[in-house]
Amino acid sequence: MPLPKAELHLHIEGTLEPELAFALAERNGVPLPYADTEELRKAYLFDDLQSFLDLYYGLMAVLRTEADFEDLADAYLARAAAQGVRHAEIFFDPQAHTARGIPFATVVEGLGRALDRSEERHGVSTRLIMCFLRDQSAESAMATLEAAKPHLDRIIGVGLDSAEVGHPPSKFAAVYEAAGVLGLRKVAHAGEEGPAAYVREALDVLGVERIDHGLRCVEDPELVERLVRDRVPLTLCPLSNVRLRAVDILEQHPLPRMMAAGLLCTINSDDPAYFGGYVDDTFHAVHEALGIGPEGLRELARNSFEAAFLDGGPEEEALRARYLAEVAAYEFD
Ligand code: HPA
Ligand code: ZN
Repeated sequence: MPLPKAELHLHIEGTLEPELAFALAERNGVPLPYADTEELRKAYLFDDLQSFLDLYYGLMAVLRTEADFEDLADAYLARAAAQGVRHAEIFFDPQAHTARGIPFATVVEGLGRALDRSEERHGVSTRLIMCFLRDQSAESAMATLEAAKPHLDRIIGVGLDSAEVGHPPSKFAAVYEAAGVLGLRKVAHAGEEGPAAYVREALDVLGVERIDHGLRCVEDPELVERLVRDRVPLTLCPLSNVRLRAVDILEQHPLPRMMAAGLLCTINSDDPAYFGGYVDDTFHAVHEALGIGPEGLRELARNSFEAAFLDGGPEEEALRARYLAEVAAYEFD
């Protein structure tokens, strides 16, 4: 049985496995520029974030109907459950779909159908976070927040993703402020390829509660001190960092140093269909490559539930306490 954990940094579109991509392409009559799944997998050699994003957005063409989004999310939840995930806070990229003419409602209702059944079918509690594409305009982000308004019963927060460098958090100050007024939680990708200064901006200008990635905070000791003091969770994604060349090899990932510094680190899979592993695979990989032992892995799992947005009243706090008890009682073999 795998270690129980929460997954807090997972793009649902990044769980589109080649087999499902081909099945949906056939179901929807969408041509794919690859002969088969093997040829598609061969395209997964990325130089950086942008080269990944080009493929990631391209392959989304197969996602067209509510049933497609439902199937995508259900497949992820089944895999996540098998990897010990007990709670998942799932990102989606509405603009990547509305720009292709797919209505916001199709995306959120399709995902929602799978999420509604998740506890019963997979034993995984879920939340949904919509991300703004930072390489699109601030106006487009605001229009997306507007489009989300009829669906806020399904969405707990906002995030910020896509090409980071040149698109600082401050570009989205107004939309984050508006999201806050609506009672939405706030997270943002920062310090993946962009500098530590973007992590500061995400905290100071956007008021985020967690930083997605945050890897490059290690370049700024004062920032590290602040993140430790304020217990700001970081949702790190070590396998993603290797595939997108933020670090050269997993053995050089700063995770052990970051944990030793007292940062509230979590590890996550980001876009597991593209980066060679789901979240328990990531736990195994950091154990093997970085020598993080059982108590370090238990700390990462505990952090994942402590950083989860499970603070909306006694029922959620009870759920968090139950998950933390499972982590404490877990026996490694
Ligand atoms: N970084 C930025 N944007 C993304 C990512 C990522 O790792 N995955 C999907 N969109
Ligand atoms: Zn991400």
